[in-house]
Amino acid sequence: MTRKAGAAFGKAALTVFVAAAVGGSLFATRGMTDDAEAWRSAFARPAELPAPEGGPDTEAQVDLGRTLFFDPILSRSRTIACASCHDPSRHWGDGRMRGIGEPGIELKLRTPTLLNVGWIAPLGWDGKFPDLESVAFTPITGPNLMNLPEDELIARLRADPDYVAAFAATFADREITRGGIERALAAFQRTIVSGSAPFDRWREGDATAVGASAKAGFALFNGKAGCHECHGGWAFTDGSFHDIGVGRGDDIGRGRLFPTSKGLQYAFKTPTLRDVAQRGPYMHDGSVATLRDVIDLYDRGGIDRPSRSPKIRPLHLSETEKADLLAFLDTLTAEEPKGKAASR
Ligand code: HEC
Ligand code: HEC
Repeated sequence: MTRKAGAAFGKAALTVFVAAAVGGSLFATRGMTDDAEAWRSAFARPAELPAPEGGPDTEAQVDLGRTLFFDPILSRSRTIACASCHDPSRHWGDGRMRGIGEPGIELKLRTPTLLNVGWIAPLGWDGKFPDLESVAFTPITGPNLMNLPEDELIARLRADPDYVAAFAATFADREITRGGIERALAAFQRTIVSGSAPFDRWREGDATAVGASAKAGFALFNGKAGCHECHGGWAFTDGSFHDIGVGRGDDIGRGRLFPTSKGLQYAFKTPTLRDVAQRGPYMHDGSVATLRDVIDLYDRGGIDRPSRSPKIRPLHLSETEKADLLAFLDTLTAEEPKGKAASR
C-alpha cells in the first residue's frame, strides 16, 4: 500500500464506518451481529507497509536505517541515539514528560511515539515536517538534541569502514550523503508498526478477546464521547491537528505555521492511541499524567477558548462510562513482544 493509498483508505473506511454508526447496530454492546462488517473494515490493519513516492524501501535501506537509529555516533558526545528518546522498550517514546537531549536541558515537547509513523504525515506536534525524510537532521543538528553538525556526522561515517561499505551497497551513488542518511532512517521508521492487540482479535471475530466493559467503552468512543471523530481508523488518529483545550497556553502549536487560522491556534497533532495505556504521561507537553486524567479532561471539555475544536465539549460521563472508556483503551495495547518492528 502506498502512502497515498493509505490516506485514501483511512477516509473511505471512516465513511463506511460513520454510515454503519448511523445504522445503529454498531453500537450494540452485547454480542456482535453480522452487519458488524462495516466497523470491522473501518478498523482493519493495513496489509502492507507504507511506501514513499518513487518506490518502496529496500531491505538494505531498512537495515542501514536501523543501524543508524540505534547508533550514538549521531550525537556530538556519542552518548545519545535516536533510540535514546524513541526507545522500543518504551513503545518508541521515552516515558518522560518532556524529552531531554545532549545538554541535559528539558525540551518544550514530549517525545512522541514512532508507532505507525510511516502513515501519519505531516509530522511533529505542529506538523512542521512534510515527511519522515525531512525530520532526521532536526534532532541530529539541534543544539538541545543531538547537537552534531551535518558535516561532522558525514565525516564520522566516512571514517568508519562498516558505514562506507553499507552506504556503497545500499545506494546507487555509493556515497555517504545527507540524502542517504535521511532515506535510510525513514525507511527503518516506516517498519515501526504497532502490534496486534486484543482489540484486533475482537475485530477479527473473537467475541471473547475483550470484556463487556471494553465493548461498552468502544460504543462510547464512537458515540456519546465522540472520540472517533479525531481518533478514527486502525491507528486511532486522523493525522490532523486540533485544539482540545489542553496545555499551559505558552505554545500555540500549529498556529505558528498558520497565524491567521483561528482553529489552528493551540492545535497539535492527534496522536495514535495504539499502546496508549503504557505511554504516559500524555499530550504534547506531557502535562496530563494518567489516562484517567485524560478522560476527566475530555469530560470537562478542556480550556474553553476560541480555537478549541467544536467537537470538544463537556461530556457528562458517569463513573461507569469513564471506566468503560478506560477498559476499551486498554485493549489497544499490543500482545506481541514489546518494541518489535515489523519485518518485511
Ligand atoms: C532528545 C530526545 C530526542 C532524540 C534524540 C530524537 N528525538 Fe525524535 N522527537 C523528539 C521530540 C521531543 C519530538 C517532537 C518534536 C516536534 O514535534 O517538534 C520528536 C519527533 C520526532 C518525529 C515526529 C513524530 C511524529 O509523530 O510526528 C520523528 C519521525 C522523529 N522524532 C524521529 C527521530 C529520529 C530519526 C531521531 C534520530 C536522528 C530522533 N527522532 C531523535 C525527541 C527526540
Ligand atoms: C477534536 C479532536 C479530538 C477528539 C474529539 C478527541 N481527541 Fe484525543 N486527542 C486529540 C489531539 C489533537 C490530541 C493531542 C493534544 C495535545 O497534545 O495538545 C489528543 C490526545 C489524546 C490522548 C493522549 C495521547 C498521547 O499519546 O498523548 C488520548 C489518550 C486521547 N486523546 C484520547 C481521546 C478520547 C478517549 C477521546 C474521547 C473522549 C478523545 N481523545 C477525543 C484530538 C481529539
